[in-house]
This record gives sequence, structure tokens and C-alpha cells, in this order.
Amino acid sequence: MAYNHMFLLSSLVVLAALHGIHAVEYVVTNNAENSTGGVRFNNDIGIEYSRQTLVSATEFIWRLFQQNTPADRKDVQRVTLIIENTDGIAYAENDEIHVNANYIKEYSGDLKGEFTGVLYHEMTHIWQWNGNGQTPGGLIEGIADFVRLKANYIPSHWVQPGQGDRWDQGYDVTARFLDYCNSLRNGFVAELNKKMRSGYSADFFVELLRNNVDQLWTDYKAKETLTSATDFIWRIFQRNTEADRKDMQKMTLIIENGNSIAFTSLNNEIHVNANYLGSYSEGIADFVRLRADLAPSHWVQPGQGDRWDQGYDVTARFLDYCNSLRNGLVAELDQKMRRGYSADLFVELLGKTVDQLWSDYKAQYGN
Ligand SMILES: *[C@@H]1O[C@H](CO)[C@@H](O)[C@H](O)[C@H]1NC(C)=O
Ligand SMILES: [Zn+2]
Repeated sequence: MAYNHMFLLSSLVVLAALHGIHAVEYVVTNNAENSTGGVRFNNDIGIEYSRQTLVSATEFIWRLFQQNTPADRKDVQRVTLIIENTDGIAYAENDEIHVNANYIKEYSGDLKGEFTGVLYHEMTHIWQWNGNGQTPGGLIEGIADFVRLKANYIPSHWVQPGQGDRWDQGYDVTARFLDYCNSLRNGFVAELNKKMRSGYSADFFVELLRNNVDQLWTDYKAKETLTSATDFIWRIFQRNTEADRKDMQKMTLIIENGNSIAFTSLNNEIHVNANYLGSYSEGIADFVRLRADLAPSHWVQPGQGDRWDQGYDVTARFLDYCNSLRNGLVAELDQKMRRGYSADLFVELLGKTVDQLWSDYKAQYGN
């Protein structure tokens, strides 16, 4: 009996010791509690939610990276999250994650979802290997956003699959590319991360995927262009009913690499920029149809609709109005959107906010 007791007791001690060694401690501090952002953090997010998210992000990352035992992981005892008034959005350093309270203050949209996504990104920096400092920064950031992608906290401003100029551009561009690589070999990113424990070589891509990274990037761009082009053609042409259909036999849709959206009906040809296909909005796709005289009879009339960004025919009609104020507006808008989107683009190009333009547009049609 005494022996059994002893055994039980020592097992408990061993378990406690194991637990003590392996458990990570999470500390959340709001150093901005007296500022607007800090108050918003307390009201809309909170210390407890943040702590739980640090735990769930860690578990998610260990699983995704296939780090099943402590020996596979970085030796981190404690992760501290600090909310403070600083610059930018967030950064991770010395097992600390710093989030800018000003960013929390200014953020419009789903704050909790955005904050959670930011924590998944930063937490990845805590756990990922960096090839002893040799891994390119763009790949480091791409892996952090790949985790965010896989956890399904994708912000609306991210590029679409196939967009971007270089595989190691970082963030969303590289994350989408890594997702493609991961689709070629399940667990690719986990294996890449394991290889980066002691160093980095571009050969890791060849070893895992039998192709160099530049070739993979080319394949990825080609695949996504084809996918988007097929989708685009489907949307432009197939939504017409028989009754709406114009003389389709004479219409040629050319998908090409260009500098702007570039659609013309010259010789019944519509030229669409392949670079643009991944990102087009429904409204702009429908604008192309409008210009190509493919507008179906069920479309709203000019001036109808509730919001400028309602999409489809409503936005197409509105963009047609904007284009009448400045010829080539949509093409210019598209060019500018390749570097990012801001509602200020309308102000830059037309001297008015998009809401003012929408009011003018509605007024013109007596709405
Ligand atoms: C916030 O204000 C209170 C009251 O003045 C003060 O005690 C507290 O230390 C302040 N918190 C921070 C993080 O500065
Ligand atoms: Zn980062």
C-alpha cells in the first residue's frame, strides 16, 4: 500500500515537473489602458480573450508545423503580449508581441477578427525557425501570413491568388504562393520550416518539390491566370440569357499581359489584362460587359441601387458614370489598385470622395 502510494506520488511529481517544463506561460499587459485605443481594447477584445488566442494560436502553429514534441519546438517559456501606443500595427521581438493601441483605435471593420489574425501572424514569428538568420525576410513574413491564411483570418485587403511580382515579396503575396506549394505537397510549409532550423538554402524548394523556386513561381502565376481567365470569361459571357445575347460569334476576348485593364470593342475584340484578373471586382467585370454592349435586360437602370460598392450592375453603372467624368478613369483606377486600394483614389482622380460622386450620380438620375 505504502509502495503504491509512493508510486502514485512520484508519478504526480514527474507529471507536474513535465508540465512545468513544457507549459508556456502567457502574459497580457495593456500599457495603454488610459488611451482611446487601450480602452477600446478592453471593451472590444479584452485581456482574457487575448490570452486564450495566444494559447490557441500556439497550438495551431505547432500542429501546422508538425511540431508534436517539445524537442521539435523552440525553447520558449513565456510569451508576453503588450498593448501600447506605438507605430505600425504589431511586431514580435524577444518572445514579446507588441500591438499598437492606435491601430486598435483606428481600425474599422471586424476588430476582433483582425486582432486575432495579427496575433496568429506575430505568434508565428515566435515559433518559426529563421535559418539561423539566413532565411529571406519575405519568406519569414510569408510563412507568418500563411499561418493566418490557414487559420482563416484573411483580411479583405489581401491580394488574390496569383497576384504579386516576386515569390519572396512577403506577406500575403508569399503566403498565397506557399499555399500553392503546399497544395503540391501536403505539409510542404512544415517541412520547409523544419529544414530552416539550422540554415537556409533555396535548394530546399528543389529538395521538397523537385523544382526551383523561380520555376514554381512561374507555374503558380500561369495556373492562377488560367483559373481567373476561365472564371472571367464565364462571368462576362455565360450570364447572358439567350434573349440578351448579342452576336457572340464575332466577339473575341483576349486575355493578355498589359498595363491597364484595356478593354476595347475595336474589331469586336475585348482585351483584358491578365494581371488584373485575380483582383477584379464584380462591378468592374460588369463594366467590361457594359462597354462591350453585353448588358443583359435584367440589369438595373442607370441611377439605381443603394450603395456604390454594391457590385455587379449597380457598381458597373456607377463606374460608367465616373468614366464619363474622366475618360479612362476605370483603367487608371485599375493601375493604381495594383499598388493597393484606398478610397482616396477617387479623390485623386476625380477630385471628390466616392460618397459625393455617388450622391451626384443619384441626383443626376433624380434618385
Ligand atoms: C492609468 O491611469 C491611472 C489613474 O491615473 C493610473 O493609476 C494608471 O497607472 C494609468 N495606467 C497606465 C498604464 O499608465
Ligand atoms: Zn511579421
